[in-house]
Amino acid sequence: MLDRVPMHASYDSQRERLRDYFDRTASETWARLTSDAPVSRIRATVRAGRDRMRATLLDWLPEDLGGQTLLDAGCGTGALSIEAARRGARVVAVDIAPSLVSVARDRTPGDIADRITWHAGDMLDPALGVFDHVVAMDSLIHYRASDMVGAASRLASRAGGTVAFTFAPRTPLLTVMHAAGQFFPRADRSPAIQPVGLRDLSARLSGTEALDGWWQRRDTRIESGFYISHALELARP
Ligand SMILES: C[S@@+](CC[C@H](N)C(=O)[O-])C[C@H]1O[C@@H](n2cnc3c(N)ncnc32)[C@H](O)[C@@H]1O
Repeated sequence: MLDRVPMHASYDSQRERLRDYFDRTASETWARLTSDAPVSRIRATVRAGRDRMRATLLDWLPEDLGGQTLLDAGCGTGALSIEAARRGARVVAVDIAPSLVSVARDRTPGDIADRITWHAGDMLDPALGVFDHVVAMDSLIHYRASDMVGAASRLASRAGGTVAFTFAPRTPLLTVMHAAGQFFPRADRSPAIQPVGLRDLSARLSGTEALDGWWQRRDTRIESGFYISHALELARP
């Protein structure tokens, strides 16, 4: 099944750019954004939106996660993994940026530490195993649509129950922000997010043979100031 979903060189090159960015340039910013430390008003709206998104994705999982396995694909500093582990899940949390994985490990409460395995590496590595649930919160938003769909398909091939991921919806504000980003000097720029329309994404997923047997069960958009993200859940009937 894995071989039926070839990933393109564009996935590998973007992953390497993201590793550089999240591991070095943005590492401290991410650690701060994902903590309780004070942040600017704009970042506070992003933090609030991200909190709502994480709560939504966690709500989509069964209330009792005891005995279930979860892959947190692109776990960042680990907030979602820690919440899922608190609800009983056995979690494998992977991120391409080793410095963020190390922050996540340091933040793990001792009483649930044995329920989370932290990894620095590619979320698509088959060696990570198979899972009941896979969640990729805001970790595919920088990949072009075809790579996002390829990644979702690969993740699905390792999931027994659900795969939930978020994407940046194509909205007028995001289009303007995307265009404005091109005027900043290259060194200051975060890797651009790659907006995609829900209808376009949905059609691409429906047309992907490797996702036969999966359906798009639900989706929701979260908007909070400068944070706009749309979650989509794939499930097996
Ligand atoms: C916007 S952050 C979100 C982090 C976390 N999911 C959260 O919501 O707090 C995106 C994360 O995805 C990670 N990432 C991107 N591509 C990845 C890949 N191919 N494999 C593993 N992690 C990846 C980045 O290193 C970064 O930490």
